[in-house]
This record gives sequence, structure tokens and C-alpha cells, in this order.
Amino acid sequence: MSLVGAGPWDPELWTVRAVRRLEEADLVLYDALVDVEALRRATKAQCFCVGKRARRDSVPQETIHRLMIRAAKQGKRVVRLKGGDPFVFGRGGEEALALVMAGVPFEVVPGVTTAVAAPELAGIPVTHRGIASAFLVLAGHTADAVDNTLRSVRPNTVSMVILMGVGARADLASRVMAHGWSADTPAAIVCGASTPDAWTWTGTLVQLGGATPPAGLPGVLVIGEVVRVREVLATASRAEQADTEVSYGRNG
Ligand SMILES: C[S@@+](CC[C@H](N)C(=O)[O-])C[C@H]1O[C@@H](n2cnc3c(N)ncnc32)[C@H](O)[C@@H]1O
Repeated sequence: MSLVGAGPWDPELWTVRAVRRLEEADLVLYDALVDVEALRRATKAQCFCVGKRARRDSVPQETIHRLMIRAAKQGKRVVRLKGGDPFVFGRGGEEALALVMAGVPFEVVPGVTTAVAAPELAGIPVTHRGIASAFLVLAGHTADAVDNTLRSVRPNTVSMVILMGVGARADLASRVMAHGWSADTPAAIVCGASTPDAWTWTGTLVQLGGATPPAGLPGVLVIGEVVRVREVLATASRAEQADTEVSYGRNG
């Protein structure tokens, strides 16, 4: 039984071990943000999507636990394939605990988390000597949790990466400013990182709410001075992505 991270999307960013586990698998339970084409590598396995799909709810977490446990106890090689890294906002910890409780031996195969890879692929290093020596990764869908974390951080001292926050970007930007971060702090939205539709916007914190990311692509918000590094890196590397807007210094 393996809990496997599939990285941001592009199967070329999978680990060697992740590929090996897929090739050996009898059953693959995968999330919605996994490249379905890449599942062709699981030549012997039955593959089921247990994530949220267009107009269909995701399979309840308890059902996923039951499916994994039953198949593993039947002696099947089960891969639970999750976007990014299994232990970063992916409920991988819960699934690991369920396996422990059921007495099922398992391994975790780390994946490339979008918290780092999405900014990176857009030319934004989450730390940069002399600019930021720490970065904070937050889930943007629970306002209280965001407020609690922001209370314990001095404004404009770290880079901030927010997952699951694109839809709430205007509210999140207001909250961050209410906690003392300056309105002209550089900010970015990176959607669909490593996919052919990758899209990046850069501007300032006060402009974040007015950005118009494409619908239907997952994305991260990045807030902090490190966003400026992209101006140099993106022009000099393949990080340049389609449909990019830069609007520092213009409010509104
Ligand atoms: C439930 S969390 C899972 C995070 C995952 N475990 C990880 O380590 O990246 C889903 C969030 O990851 C981010 N995400 C996933 N795929 C992405 C991509 N290709 N580009 C940008 N952000 C992505 C989005 O913020 C999305 O809402």
C-alpha cells in the first residue's frame, strides 16, 4: 500500500519511485488534479477517480479509507495517488492514520508540492537570500485559520504561499492588509502550473482582488518581495508562460 505524491500535474515531475509504484499497482485510487493520461503507466491496475470531478462530488473520505484497506487486505498492490505531496493539505495524514488503525502496512512516497513548484515554475523562488529567509504555506479556504496564522507573523517578513485561495483572493488580500502588510507588497497568482494552460499574473496585494484568473484551473497565491525576482528570471528562462500580466505600482 503506497500513498504517492503526483506533483503539480506534469508526469515528468513524478519521482522515480512514484512511476515504479504505478507500474506495479493492481489498484489506483487517484485525485482529480492528477493527469489522467499518465495513468497509462499503470498497465495492470484498475484506476478509479475518487476526487471531485465536474458536477460530481468527491468520494467521501471514509469510503476512500475503506476501499484502500479492503484492497490492501486482499493482497492487492494499492496506490493512493494524490496531487502534489500527500502530506501537504491532501488529507494524506488522515489516510495514513486510517491505515495504521486498520493494521495495514504502508509507505509514503513524497511528491513535488505545488506550494513550492507552482511559484518556482513561474520564476518565483519562495526564499531568496537578502529578500526572504522563510516562507509560510497556508490554506486559503478557512478564513479563521488564515487570521490565526497572520496574527503570529510580523508583516512583510516572510513569503506567503496560499493554496486553495484563488476564489477568495479579494477577501484574503484584505485580511493580509488588515494584519499590517503594505498594499504595494508584490503578489502573484499562478494557475495550472506545469500544465499546457499555465497562467501567471503579477501585481500588488491591493490589486490581487481585481485579477481575473482563468476558471477551472487550480492555483496558488504568492505574496511577498520574492515575486519581483520573476521579472528577471521569467524573461531569462523557460518560466515565461502564456498570458502574463505585470502591473506593479498601478493601483486598481
Ligand atoms: C487540496 S490542495 C492539495 C495540495 C497538494 N497536496 C500539494 O502538495 O500541492 C489543492 C490545491 O493545490 C494547488 N494546486 C494543485 N495543483 C496545482 C497546479 N497545477 N498549479 C497551481 N496550483 C495547484 C491549488 O491551490 C489547489 O487548490
